[in-house]
Amino acid sequence: MEDIILDCDPGHDDAIALILAIYSAKINLLGVTTSAGNQKHSQTLRNAMSLLTLMHQQSIPIASGNRTPLFRDLISGISVHGVTGLDGTDLPTPNFPSQSIPATELMAKIITKNPNKVTIVVTGPCTNLALFLAVHPELKGSIKRLIIFGGGMGVGNCDPTTEFNFKADPEAAKIVINAGIPLVLAPLNVGLEAQLFTEDRHAIHRIKNPVAQAVAGLTDFYGLSFDSHWNLEGLPLYDPCTIAWLIDPSQFSSKNCHVTVETKGELTAGESIIDYYQITHQKPNAEVLFHVNRDWFAKLIIDAVKSFSQK
Ligand code: BDR
Ligand code: CA
Repeated sequence: MEDIILDCDPGHDDAIALILAIYSAKINLLGVTTSAGNQKHSQTLRNAMSLLTLMHQQSIPIASGNRTPLFRDLISGISVHGVTGLDGTDLPTPNFPSQSIPATELMAKIITKNPNKVTIVVTGPCTNLALFLAVHPELKGSIKRLIIFGGGMGVGNCDPTTEFNFKADPEAAKIVINAGIPLVLAPLNVGLEAQLFTEDRHAIHRIKNPVAQAVAGLTDFYGLSFDSHWNLEGLPLYDPCTIAWLIDPSQFSSKNCHVTVETKGELTAGESIIDYYQITHQKPNAEVLFHVNRDWFAKLIIDAVKSFSQK
């Protein structure tokens, strides 16, 4: 059983990561923290609360994160995620309160109560985690591990070589990656392989429960942003790679690499520098995921969505 905190910015693929975390018997979701990313902080909080309401998971504590990245203005995720951050479906109005403490303090509370047991999963910009490490340096050694969706080796989705989560808050990503906490990094390379094919999306459309119907609408909207330039057979679901890896790491292939983040480049701020061939001779600080068993991944998502018929 993996105890986790999910730090997310829903976001279509964040939403599916959250659904996967609730579904899996291998994951124990102790708390959700939300970041400013795909939408502003108040909207990503609302979106996560709507999803928890939809899944009848109101007892999971949820707290809002910082309004902005550490030193920059928020960049917009509207072109991919729409004006609500979760366009494509109508989610229920949240029917429970969020925590009155900020994300950093909810993280601190959970880590203090469960030392060395909790994996922090980050599927948005790393702002909340960087702030947590600054405010609570004494708890750094009590985090079991981090798994982060972000960066890319030679690929980007914001600029030619930058990925959205790292581009949105490069300084935070750099702090977190270099913090010395056991780290698994899921970059765009693996995310681009984690695809739903058309037949998988049809299968989800055929499942008649409210979670499946929401996922069907969400994936239809999200699919609009991947035009022919992407040259992909299916629809890549980035953020769920993190939870999928926790569920069964044997379905992924990876390499230990030294990773850092460029923060100053005119064209490359937010680029992850993944030293695949150990050119710098620096000790690897991350297990970087490069490939995933696509058929297994798609079945996992479909099974997760189906499971809500019995709930
Ligand atoms: C990442 O950026 C966001 O748009 C997605 O939710 C994902 O976390 C992909 O680059
Ligand atoms: Ca995200």
